[in-house]
Amino acid sequence: MSQAAPKLQFLLDLQEQLGGSIPFERWMQEALYHPEFGYYAAGIRGIGRRGDFTTWPVLHESLARGIARWALANKPSGRWHLIEIGAGTGTLAAGVLRALGWWNRPQMHIVEVSPPLRQEQQTLLGRKTTWHPNMTEALAACDGSALIYSNELVDAFPARIFQNQDKVWHELALRIENGRVEETWLAPLPDTARPDSTAFATPWPEGQRIEVQESFATWRDDWRPAWKAGAILTIDYGDACPALYHRRPQGSLRAFAHHQRLEGAAAYAGFGVRDLTVDVNFSDLIAWGGPPDAELLTLDAFLARQNRKPASGHLDQFPEAGEAFKVLIQSP
Ligand SMILES: C[S@@+](CC[C@H](N)C(=O)[O-])C[C@H]1O[C@@H](n2cnc3c(N)ncnc32)[C@H](O)[C@@H]1O
Repeated sequence: MSQAAPKLQFLLDLQEQLGGSIPFERWMQEALYHPEFGYYAAGIRGIGRRGDFTTWPVLHESLARGIARWALANKPSGRWHLIEIGAGTGTLAAGVLRALGWWNRPQMHIVEVSPPLRQEQQTLLGRKTTWHPNMTEALAACDGSALIYSNELVDAFPARIFQNQDKVWHELALRIENGRVEETWLAPLPDTARPDSTAFATPWPEGQRIEVQESFATWRDDWRPAWKAGAILTIDYGDACPALYHRRPQGSLRAFAHHQRLEGAAAYAGFGVRDLTVDVNFSDLIAWGGPPDAELLTLDAFLARQNRKPASGHLDQFPEAGEAFKVLIQSP
Protein backbone atom coordinates (compact mmCIF):
# COMPACT_ATOMS: atom_id res chain seq x y z
CA MET A 1 0.00 0.00 0.00
CA SER A 2 1.49 3.41 -0.94
CA GLN A 3 1.95 6.05 1.79
CA ALA A 4 -0.73 8.24 0.21
CA ALA A 5 -3.41 5.56 0.47
CA PRO A 6 -4.55 6.10 4.11
CA LYS A 7 -4.76 9.87 3.52
CA LEU A 8 -6.74 9.44 0.33
CA GLN A 9 -9.06 6.97 2.03
CA PHE A 10 -9.56 9.41 4.90
CA LEU A 11 -10.51 12.17 2.45
CA LEU A 12 -12.84 9.90 0.45
CA ASP A 13 -14.60 8.78 3.65
CA LEU A 14 -14.96 12.38 4.81
CA GLN A 15 -16.30 13.41 1.41
CA GLU A 16 -18.92 10.68 1.52
CA GLN A 17 -19.87 11.52 5.09
CA LEU A 18 -20.34 15.20 4.13
CA GLY A 19 -22.56 14.46 1.14
CA GLY A 20 -20.14 14.39 -1.79
CA SER A 21 -17.72 17.27 -1.22
CA ILE A 22 -15.61 18.81 1.55
CA PRO A 23 -16.17 22.51 2.35
CA PHE A 24 -12.80 24.24 1.96
CA GLU A 25 -12.63 25.31 5.61
CA ARG A 26 -12.88 21.66 6.72
CA TRP A 27 -10.28 20.68 4.11
CA MET A 28 -7.84 23.29 5.46
CA GLN A 29 -8.54 22.24 9.06
CA GLU A 30 -7.70 18.61 8.30
CA ALA A 31 -4.76 19.44 6.00
CA LEU A 32 -3.08 21.49 8.74
CA TYR A 33 -4.25 19.95 12.03
CA HIS A 34 -5.46 16.36 11.56
CA PRO A 35 -3.62 14.52 14.37
CA GLU A 36 -2.17 11.89 12.02
CA PHE A 37 -2.08 13.49 8.57
CA GLY A 38 -2.01 17.25 9.28
CA TYR A 39 0.88 19.50 8.28
CA TYR A 40 1.47 20.94 11.77
CA ALA A 41 0.89 17.58 13.45
CA ALA A 42 3.14 15.44 11.28
CA GLY A 43 4.17 16.94 7.93
CA ILE A 44 6.19 19.99 8.96
CA ARG A 45 9.88 19.83 8.11
CA GLY A 46 10.78 22.79 10.30
CA ILE A 47 10.73 26.53 9.61
CA GLY A 48 13.63 28.22 7.85
CA ARG A 49 16.01 27.16 5.10
CA ARG A 50 15.33 23.44 5.42
CA GLY A 51 11.56 23.83 5.82
CA ASP A 52 8.73 24.93 3.51
CA PHE A 53 8.67 28.57 4.53
CA THR A 54 10.65 31.12 6.50
CA THR A 55 9.33 33.65 8.95
CA TRP A 56 10.83 36.96 10.04
CA PRO A 57 12.02 35.94 13.49
CA VAL A 58 13.99 33.04 12.04
CA LEU A 59 15.98 35.51 9.95
CA HIS A 60 16.22 38.67 11.99
CA GLU A 61 16.09 39.87 15.59
CA SER A 62 14.42 43.24 14.93
CA LEU A 63 10.96 41.84 15.59
CA ALA A 64 12.03 40.27 18.89
CA ARG A 65 13.54 43.58 20.01
CA GLY A 66 10.37 45.49 19.02
CA ILE A 67 8.13 43.06 20.94
CA ALA A 68 10.42 43.23 23.99
CA ARG A 69 10.25 47.04 24.04
CA TRP A 70 6.47 46.95 23.64
CA ALA A 71 6.24 44.48 26.54
CA LEU A 72 8.44 46.63 28.78
CA ALA A 73 6.29 49.68 28.08
CA ASN A 74 3.07 47.81 28.90
CA LYS A 75 4.00 45.37 31.66
CA PRO A 76 2.65 45.77 35.17
CA SER A 77 5.09 46.30 38.02
CA GLY A 78 6.24 43.17 39.84
CA ARG A 79 5.76 39.63 38.57
CA TRP A 80 4.36 39.60 35.03
CA HIS A 81 3.32 37.11 32.39
CA LEU A 82 4.08 36.98 28.68
CA ILE A 83 2.33 34.50 26.37
CA GLU A 84 3.37 33.65 22.80
CA ILE A 85 0.76 31.79 20.77
CA GLY A 86 2.05 29.53 17.98
CA ALA A 87 5.78 29.87 18.56
CA GLY A 88 7.15 27.87 15.60
CA THR A 89 10.78 27.00 16.25
CA GLY A 90 10.85 29.13 19.45
CA THR A 91 13.31 31.57 17.86
CA LEU A 92 11.11 34.60 18.45
CA ALA A 93 10.47 33.76 22.13
CA ALA A 94 14.21 33.21 22.63
CA GLY A 95 14.95 36.58 21.00
CA VAL A 96 12.31 38.38 23.08
CA LEU A 97 13.69 36.92 26.32
CA ARG A 98 17.24 37.84 25.27
CA ALA A 99 16.18 41.40 24.47
CA LEU A 100 14.34 41.73 27.80
CA GLY A 101 17.39 40.63 29.77
CA TRP A 102 17.32 38.49 32.91
CA TRP A 103 16.46 41.47 35.13
CA ASN A 104 13.17 42.06 33.23
CA ARG A 105 12.39 38.38 32.78
CA PRO A 106 8.64 37.59 32.69
CA GLN A 107 6.96 34.31 33.50
CA MET A 108 7.09 33.03 29.91
CA HIS A 109 4.27 30.90 28.51
CA ILE A 110 3.79 29.31 25.10
CA VAL A 111 0.58 27.95 23.65
CA GLU A 112 1.41 25.52 20.86
CA VAL A 113 -0.70 22.90 19.08
CA SER A 114 2.02 21.25 17.00
CA PRO A 115 3.82 18.39 18.84
CA PRO A 116 7.01 18.50 16.69
CA LEU A 117 7.28 22.29 16.99
CA ARG A 118 6.61 22.17 20.76
CA GLN A 119 9.50 19.75 21.09
CA GLU A 120 11.76 22.05 19.08
CA GLN A 121 10.75 24.99 21.30
CA GLN A 122 11.42 23.00 24.47
CA THR A 123 14.90 22.08 23.26
CA LEU A 124 15.67 25.73 22.54
CA LEU A 125 14.02 27.42 25.52
CA GLY A 126 14.45 24.97 28.36
CA ARG A 127 12.58 24.76 31.63
CA LYS A 128 12.02 28.41 32.46
CA THR A 129 9.15 28.54 29.94
CA THR A 130 5.78 26.85 30.51
CA TRP A 131 3.84 25.21 27.69
CA HIS A 132 0.04 25.04 27.55
CA PRO A 133 -2.24 23.21 25.14
CA ASN A 134 -4.68 26.13 24.86
CA MET A 135 -5.21 29.77 25.82
CA THR A 136 -7.73 29.09 28.58
CA GLU A 137 -5.14 27.06 30.50
CA ALA A 138 -2.39 29.59 29.81
CA LEU A 139 -4.53 32.44 31.11
CA ALA A 140 -5.54 30.45 34.19
CA ALA A 141 -1.81 30.12 34.99
CA CYS A 142 -1.52 33.94 34.68
CA ASP A 143 -4.60 34.73 36.83
CA GLY A 144 -6.09 36.25 33.67
CA SER A 145 -3.47 39.01 33.39
CA ALA A 146 -0.95 38.73 30.55
CA LEU A 147 0.73 40.46 27.65
CA ILE A 148 0.16 38.25 24.61
CA TYR A 149 1.71 38.18 21.15
CA SER A 150 1.69 36.05 18.03
CA ASN A 151 3.53 36.18 14.72
CA GLU A 152 2.07 34.47 11.64
CA LEU A 153 -0.45 32.55 13.72
CA VAL A 154 -3.76 33.88 12.40
CA ASP A 155 -2.89 33.17 8.75
CA ALA A 156 -2.87 29.46 9.68
CA PHE A 157 -6.51 29.45 10.86
CA PRO A 158 -8.84 27.61 8.45
CA ALA A 159 -10.84 29.93 6.18
CA ARG A 160 -14.21 29.67 4.50
CA ILE A 161 -13.90 30.80 0.88
CA PHE A 162 -16.75 32.51 -0.96
CA GLN A 163 -17.14 33.67 -4.53
CA ASN A 164 -19.44 36.34 -5.88
CA GLN A 165 -21.33 34.66 -8.74
CA ASP A 166 -23.88 36.92 -10.38
CA LYS A 167 -24.30 38.90 -7.13
CA VAL A 168 -24.93 35.75 -5.12
CA TRP A 169 -22.30 34.29 -2.78
CA HIS A 170 -21.35 30.63 -3.12
CA GLU A 171 -19.03 28.73 -0.78
CA LEU A 172 -16.08 26.73 -2.09
CA ALA A 173 -15.87 23.00 -1.48
CA LEU A 174 -13.41 20.45 -2.85
CA ARG A 175 -14.21 17.11 -4.35
CA ILE A 176 -11.96 14.18 -5.18
CA GLU A 177 -12.84 12.64 -8.51
CA ASN A 178 -10.67 9.92 -10.05
CA GLY A 179 -7.83 10.81 -7.69
CA ARG A 180 -7.89 14.51 -8.68
CA VAL A 181 -9.03 17.41 -6.49
CA GLU A 182 -11.68 19.58 -8.12
CA GLU A 183 -13.42 22.74 -7.01
CA THR A 184 -17.16 22.73 -6.60
CA TRP A 185 -19.55 25.38 -5.26
CA LEU A 186 -22.14 24.81 -2.57
CA ALA A 187 -25.73 25.99 -2.95
CA PRO A 188 -26.20 29.82 -3.01
CA LEU A 189 -25.69 31.31 0.40
CA PRO A 190 -28.79 33.12 1.71
CA ASP A 191 -27.94 36.59 3.10
CA THR A 192 -29.16 35.48 6.53
CA ALA A 193 -26.64 32.60 6.59
CA ARG A 194 -23.55 34.70 5.82
CA PRO A 195 -20.79 34.55 8.40
CA ASP A 196 -20.04 37.78 10.21
CA SER A 197 -17.37 39.42 8.03
CA THR A 198 -16.51 42.92 6.86
CA ALA A 199 -15.64 41.41 3.46
CA PHE A 200 -19.31 41.16 2.47
CA ALA A 201 -19.77 44.94 2.78
CA THR A 202 -17.86 45.75 -0.45
CA PRO A 203 -19.68 45.59 -3.83
CA TRP A 204 -17.11 43.23 -5.39
CA PRO A 205 -16.95 42.55 -9.12
CA GLU A 206 -18.24 39.27 -10.53
CA GLY A 207 -16.01 36.30 -9.65
CA GLN A 208 -14.24 37.90 -6.67
CA ARG A 209 -13.16 35.39 -4.02
CA ILE A 210 -12.96 36.31 -0.34
CA GLU A 211 -11.80 34.35 2.70
CA VAL A 212 -13.47 34.46 6.11
CA GLN A 213 -11.55 33.06 9.08
CA GLU A 214 -14.60 32.33 11.18
CA SER A 215 -12.57 29.62 12.96
CA PHE A 216 -10.39 32.37 14.44
CA ALA A 217 -13.43 34.22 15.83
CA THR A 218 -14.71 31.01 17.44
CA TRP A 219 -11.27 30.26 18.92
CA ARG A 220 -10.89 33.79 20.30
CA ASP A 221 -14.42 33.83 21.78
CA ASP A 222 -13.56 30.63 23.59
CA TRP A 223 -10.78 32.15 25.72
CA ARG A 224 -11.87 35.78 25.78
CA PRO A 225 -13.72 35.45 29.16
CA ALA A 226 -10.51 34.16 30.79
CA TRP A 227 -8.50 37.25 29.78
CA LYS A 228 -8.94 40.11 32.27
CA ALA A 229 -5.97 42.44 31.84
CA GLY A 230 -3.03 43.14 29.54
CA ALA A 231 -2.74 43.69 25.78
CA ILE A 232 -2.32 41.56 22.67
CA LEU A 233 -0.11 42.10 19.62
CA THR A 234 -1.19 40.23 16.50
CA ILE A 235 1.47 40.31 13.78
CA ASP A 236 0.76 38.83 10.38
CA TYR A 237 0.59 39.45 6.66
CA GLY A 238 -2.67 40.95 5.52
CA ASP A 239 -4.52 44.24 5.45
CA ALA A 240 -7.75 46.00 6.23
CA CYS A 241 -10.65 45.22 3.91
CA PRO A 242 -11.22 46.05 1.01
CA ALA A 243 -7.52 46.89 0.41
CA LEU A 244 -6.74 43.24 1.18
CA TYR A 245 -8.23 42.07 -2.13
CA HIS A 246 -7.01 44.92 -4.32
CA ARG A 247 -6.01 43.29 -7.66
CA ARG A 248 -6.59 39.84 -6.18
CA PRO A 249 -9.77 38.48 -7.78
CA GLN A 250 -8.78 34.95 -6.73
CA GLY A 251 -8.35 35.92 -3.07
CA SER A 252 -5.17 35.18 -1.15
CA LEU A 253 -5.09 31.41 -0.54
CA ARG A 254 -1.76 29.74 -1.31
CA ALA A 255 0.36 26.79 -0.27
CA PHE A 256 4.08 26.65 0.44
CA ALA A 257 6.31 23.67 -0.26
CA HIS A 258 10.10 23.96 -0.19
CA HIS A 259 9.75 27.78 -0.33
CA GLN A 260 7.72 27.54 -3.52
CA ARG A 261 4.44 29.44 -3.57
CA LEU A 262 1.57 27.46 -5.09
CA GLU A 263 -1.73 29.06 -6.02
CA GLY A 264 -5.03 27.92 -7.54
CA ALA A 265 -5.56 24.18 -7.94
CA ALA A 266 -1.86 23.54 -7.13
CA ALA A 267 -2.57 24.64 -3.54
CA TYR A 268 -4.90 21.66 -3.01
CA ALA A 269 -2.39 18.97 -3.89
CA GLY A 270 -0.02 17.57 -1.26
CA PHE A 271 -2.66 17.29 1.46
CA GLY A 272 -0.88 17.46 4.83
CA VAL A 273 2.62 17.97 3.45
CA ARG A 274 2.28 21.64 2.44
CA ASP A 275 1.53 24.72 4.44
CA LEU A 276 -1.80 26.36 3.51
CA THR A 277 -2.32 29.99 4.37
CA VAL A 278 -4.41 33.10 3.70
CA ASP A 279 -3.81 36.81 4.24
CA VAL A 280 -5.44 38.11 7.40
CA ASN A 281 -8.44 40.42 7.12
CA PHE A 282 -7.55 42.78 9.97
CA SER A 283 -10.90 44.61 9.63
CA ASP A 284 -12.54 41.35 10.72
CA LEU A 285 -10.18 40.96 13.67
CA ILE A 286 -11.04 44.49 14.81
CA ALA A 287 -14.78 43.96 14.26
CA TRP A 288 -14.71 40.67 16.19
CA GLY A 289 -12.35 41.67 18.99
CA GLY A 290 -12.56 45.45 19.38
CA PRO A 291 -12.14 47.40 21.55
CA PRO A 292 -12.70 50.90 20.10
CA ASP A 293 -9.07 51.84 20.76
CA ALA A 294 -7.64 48.89 18.78
CA GLU A 295 -4.70 50.12 16.71
CA LEU A 296 -3.59 48.75 13.32
CA LEU A 297 -0.22 49.76 11.89
CA THR A 298 2.35 48.43 9.47
CA LEU A 299 5.16 46.40 10.96
CA ASP A 300 7.61 49.03 9.78
CA ALA A 301 5.70 51.73 11.68
CA PHE A 302 5.50 49.52 14.78
CA LEU A 303 9.23 48.76 14.72
CA ALA A 304 10.06 52.40 14.08
CA ARG A 305 8.03 53.37 17.14
CA GLN A 306 9.52 50.69 19.38
CA ASN A 307 13.09 50.98 18.15
CA ARG A 308 12.91 54.76 17.72
CA LYS A 309 14.22 54.60 14.16
CA PRO A 310 12.88 55.84 10.78
CA ALA A 311 10.25 53.49 9.33
CA SER A 312 12.32 51.68 6.71
CA GLY A 313 15.09 49.19 6.21
CA HIS A 314 14.29 46.96 9.16
CA LEU A 315 14.70 43.81 7.17
CA ASP A 316 17.07 43.61 4.24
CA GLN A 317 15.98 40.07 3.36
CA PHE A 318 12.32 41.07 2.91
CA PRO A 319 12.40 44.67 1.63
CA GLU A 320 8.58 44.83 1.23
CA ALA A 321 7.65 42.92 4.35
CA GLY A 322 7.57 45.97 6.60
CA GLU A 323 4.51 47.21 4.69
CA ALA A 324 2.92 43.82 3.93
CA PHE A 325 2.98 42.80 7.58
CA LYS A 326 0.62 44.49 9.99
CA VAL A 327 0.52 44.76 13.75
CA LEU A 328 -2.81 44.91 15.56
CA ILE A 329 -2.75 46.07 19.19
CA GLN A 330 -5.82 45.25 21.27
CA SER A 331 -6.77 45.07 24.93
CA PRO A 332 -9.30 42.75 26.61
C1 LIG B 1 3.29 29.85 10.41
S1 LIG B 1 3.82 29.20 11.94
C2 LIG B 1 4.58 30.64 12.67
C3 LIG B 1 5.58 30.27 13.71
C4 LIG B 1 6.28 31.41 14.46
N1 LIG B 1 5.34 32.27 15.13
C5 LIG B 1 7.20 32.19 13.55
O1 LIG B 1 6.89 33.36 13.29
O2 LIG B 1 8.22 31.65 13.12
C6 LIG B 1 2.28 29.01 12.83
C7 LIG B 1 2.45 28.54 14.25
O3 LIG B 1 1.18 28.58 14.94
C8 LIG B 1 0.93 27.32 15.56
N2 LIG B 1 -0.54 27.21 15.71
C9 LIG B 1 -1.47 27.13 14.75
N3 LIG B 1 -2.71 27.14 15.29
C10 LIG B 1 -2.54 27.27 16.64
C11 LIG B 1 -3.45 27.37 17.74
N4 LIG B 1 -4.77 27.33 17.58
N5 LIG B 1 -2.93 27.51 18.98
C12 LIG B 1 -1.58 27.56 19.17
N6 LIG B 1 -0.68 27.45 18.15
C13 LIG B 1 -1.16 27.32 16.91
C14 LIG B 1 1.63 26.34 14.63
O4 LIG B 1 1.82 25.08 15.18
C15 LIG B 1 2.93 27.11 14.39
O5 LIG B 1 3.79 27.02 15.50
